[in-house]
Amino acid sequence: MTNGADRRPVHVTADVVSAKRIGAFTHLTLRASGISERFRPGTFVALSHGADRSLLARRALWIHRVRTASAYGPCLDVVVDPVGTTTRWLAGLAVGASLELTGPLGRPFALPQEPVPCLLVGEGVDAAALFPLAERLRERGCPVHLLLGAEREDRLLSALEARRTVRAVTVMTADGSVGLRGSVADRVAESVRSSSAAVVYAAGSHATLRAAASAAVEQGAWSQVLVTPSMPCGTGLCHGCAVPVIAEHGAARTVRGCTEGPVFRGDRVRWDAMEVR
Ligand SMILES: Cc1cc2nc3c(=O)[nH]c(=O)nc-3n(C[C@H](O)[C@H](O)[C@H](O)COP(=O)(O)OP(=O)(O)OC[C@H]3O[C@@H](n4cnc5c(N)ncnc54)[C@H](O)[C@@H]3O)c2cc1C
Ligand code: FES
Repeated sequence: MTNGADRRPVHVTADVVSAKRIGAFTHLTLRASGISERFRPGTFVALSHGADRSLLARRALWIHRVRTASAYGPCLDVVVDPVGTTTRWLAGLAVGASLELTGPLGRPFALPQEPVPCLLVGEGVDAAALFPLAERLRERGCPVHLLLGAEREDRLLSALEARRTVRAVTVMTADGSVGLRGSVADRVAESVRSSSAAVVYAAGSHATLRAAASAAVEQGAWSQVLVTPSMPCGTGLCHGCAVPVIAEHGAARTVRGCTEGPVFRGDRVRWDAMEVR
């Protein structure tokens, strides 16, 4: 068992114990002893190589849920959006397949000391990172409001599960197939007001992160956003994950998203200088 002090990432061979297609995504449960016990919300895992073991760059995945004890031992869930070669391979894996994973990587979310209202803004597959955060905030007595969005219903992540975990959920789809029509970026300012949020946590597109950061500043709230440039190594070695920020002393700096992030204070990111995916 890991004590609170040992949070260093580990490299493990994980195996798939469950694979489920839900909407556009595949949810994999992985037996990944060592990573689950070290996990804190906001951190991620990196996959070393895919189908033909030829990956030069690692592939990052959020941890959607951890179970430190289960019939299979310590497990974690990841959600795969099959957008390219590796994610399509991952989405097709069967129970029993094995993967090389390193994690947990990155800095976690900071949690409020007091049980203050929190707004979580999640879009598409990136919302995966917010579910374990919601649980942690709830354990601390924080009223949690979730603004959850996607292009369409099949890309909306775990909305039913969210309703069980948090105090209030607002669902939005760009095509109006479920919930309100529109994007979470357009709605976030209204949600910060109506939830009286003291802290706004956001995961999603550049536009959503930026809107969440700006709405928080306007309402006098803190924001923490998950910034996700490509992360070829995930461990601070390659410098391929630049994030432009304003440092503590006010100077413009560029830092590594994988080690200084992926969690950043929204008011510290230089949004105009960010490469937009
Ligand atoms: C910290 C972090 C956490 C992530 N968590 C998840 C997750 O939980 N689930 C998940 O499915 N994906 C996640 N991603 C994105 C995932 O790592 C990329 O989609 C992956 O690199 C694509 O690999 P590929 O080989 O399938 O696609 P490639 O063949 O490398 O690329 C296919 C297409 O995907 C685009 N692409 C590349 N990187 C990204 C990216 N980061 N986001 C969106 N599109 C991209 C490319 O521009 C290209 O059009 C995360 C990324 C980061 C940085
Ligand atoms: S991904 Fe290599 S340094 Fe960040």
